[in-house]
Amino acid sequence: MTHDHARHAHHDDLAQILDLDAEVFAPALDTVYADIALAADGPIRTILDLGAGTGTGTFGLLRHFEDARATAVDASPEMLAHLGREAARLGLGDRATTLVADLDQQVPDVEPVDLVWASASLHHLADPDRTLAEVVRLVRPGGLMAVLELDGFPRFVPDDAPGGAAEARAHALIDADRAVDMPSMGSDWGARLTKAGLDVEQHRSVVLQLTAPLPEVVGRYAAATLTRVAGAVAERLEPEDAAALDALLDGGPDDVRHRPDLRVGAERQLWIARL
Ligand SMILES: C[S@@+](CC[C@H](N)C(=O)[O-])C[C@H]1O[C@@H](n2cnc3c(N)ncnc32)[C@H](O)[C@@H]1O
Repeated sequence: MTHDHARHAHHDDLAQILDLDAEVFAPALDTVYADIALAADGPIRTILDLGAGTGTGTFGLLRHFEDARATAVDASPEMLAHLGREAARLGLGDRATTLVADLDQQVPDVEPVDLVWASASLHHLADPDRTLAEVVRLVRPGGLMAVLELDGFPRFVPDDAPGGAAEARAHALIDADRAVDMPSMGSDWGARLTKAGLDVEQHRSVVLQLTAPLPEVVGRYAAATLTRVAGAVAERLEPEDAAALDALLDGGPDDVRHRPDLRVGAERQLWIARL
């Protein structure tokens, strides 16, 4: 595979997970948009989505705030191309603008907005506090910044069911990697927002616990996520754990796409802050 092919394949896998994630988490995200609407001091007309990915937040917010326009910012031109195609398909093309920018280098020079949204993106930053200090300039006085962050991938298989222990051990390996590669993941984003000069008005967990009967999209979401998890730790898994993870994905009786004990257990943290 050439470097370019590898980059595109990586993008496609991640984009697919993000789109499935949007579908599975949609009801939980709707409660988050409702909280933002309650916190706002007036109509939300301008939105900046930082690290927008395939547009989960951009589209969710545009649907919720019908008078708003959004600028979706991401370092990845591929993600934003995907987002642009989806915006056109959803009929939101005239309300969504994309902007390629690496937030580690510089925040974009745009007019301050009513709402800055950052979901699962700040933990990717090399120096989140430095970026947040600049991001504050993009919030209008009285405007909001909402941060949704996560500690890791969701769990799909009960601990005591076939494949559950292997899934847990794969997660433990990934968590250890993250402690080194993305030390800000799981940190206190409320404290970071305060340090950047915002007033944190709300902090709550957004919990998603889904059990059978589950729509078929959950099986596809579980399979796509577990493929990524297994790939990330493939060389370090004990052979029996590698085999158990394979069995969750091989189309056999333990495959997550058609087992009755499949579940989704995920928790995210929401902070809503005002300038
Ligand atoms: C896990 S995805 C989250 C996407 C989306 N916000 C969501 O909730 O589904 C993280 C996104 O942040 C983007 N990202 C990572 N580092 C970035 C940076 N330095 N500047 C801008 N975007 C970045 C990635 O390209 C990716 O699209």
